[in-house]
Amino acid sequence: MDDKNLDANIVEKIKKLEAKYAAMGQDLASYLEGLLQADYLNYWNYINLDTLLTLQQPRTSYPDEMIFICYHQHTELFFKLILWELEQITGAQPVEANVFLEKINRCIRYFDNLEHSFDVMVSGMDRDQFLKFRMALLPASGFQSAQYRLIEIYATNLENLLPEETRSNLPEKYTDDELIQSIYWQKGATELVSGKKTLTLRQFEQKYTEQLLETIRNKKETNLLKQYQWHYQQAPNRLQIVDALRRFDSLANVFWPLAHYKAAVRYLQSDMTDIEATGGTNWQKYLPPRFQRVIFFPELWSDEEKKEWGKPWVLKQMSGQKQ
Ligand code: HEM
Repeated sequence: MDDKNLDANIVEKIKKLEAKYAAMGQDLASYLEGLLQADYLNYWNYINLDTLLTLQQPRTSYPDEMIFICYHQHTELFFKLILWELEQITGAQPVEANVFLEKINRCIRYFDNLEHSFDVMVSGMDRDQFLKFRMALLPASGFQSAQYRLIEIYATNLENLLPEETRSNLPEKYTDDELIQSIYWQKGATELVSGKKTLTLRQFEQKYTEQLLETIRNKKETNLLKQYQWHYQQAPNRLQIVDALRRFDSLANVFWPLAHYKAAVRYLQSDMTDIEATGGTNWQKYLPPRFQRVIFFPELWSDEEKKEWGKPWVLKQMSGQKQ
């Protein structure tokens, strides 16, 4: 095929490519040569499938441990997607109100998926196997999921992540470093007997405290709550934004935690005595949303709704209704 027979469309593309590479001082011919030499892309390379499938490394030979690992990885990938969206709407420059809404709706979709897929854990593993293989995983716990904590930090002010009694009783002056020591999750990681931080928490803090503090500093003025307060209260789609934020709040702080709690009950609650949580904490008193009462956007809920936090969902579950 000579030049004259070259499709006009291709000639046009080559001209555009030439301009693109020339702008960077690059020689298009060398890049075309590279294209000629390169292999075709395939599915397995594009998504790094071979590597992905090597990332599941059970610690025991109980077959159901594979389900436990894969589902945790699934969850962490969805947490990653949630953070990906949150990062785009918590920058210094506010995005258009409809973009803000669209991104929150994406987060809702991801959390919805996580809530509804949790049955893979709740009903999908053999209990006897679980109780055996979990002992080989000590002191690791989903409690150490840094992405879960980052979502909280992207969503709201640090003050809203304190235990309820501390929230209303803050000293006049305090630093982030001080507040992070009273954050609600400390309660889930204090040894029942000694009152000391569990090893699970100490390891988590050693690895992540710096990163968490840096994110707290970065998102202090631009987290979701602040974005709403400063940029979208007067937006034409304000009502939809409020609805979406409320849905996000309830998914993150009621529906997902309750789906997760159901798994803890299925595996760790026994007729005789509750089985100790990984970190030796009282999970029955820590995990239920009505005890934690974490609310990202308190001003979007009525006093009654806040008082009853978590309760309507439990009632709907008990009456067999879908939320
Ligand atoms: C059979 C399945 C599961 C059981 C029995 C279970 C049990 C528990 C327990 C007892 C705790 C309290 C802390 C501790 O002492 O370890 C906890 C915390 C936690 N788990 Fe799980 N878990 C399960 C699956 C998962 C999965 C799939 C994830 C996904 C990442 C996850 C993420 C978390 C998180 C983020 C926390 C901290 C919650 C908070 O601080 O409010 N868990 N889990």
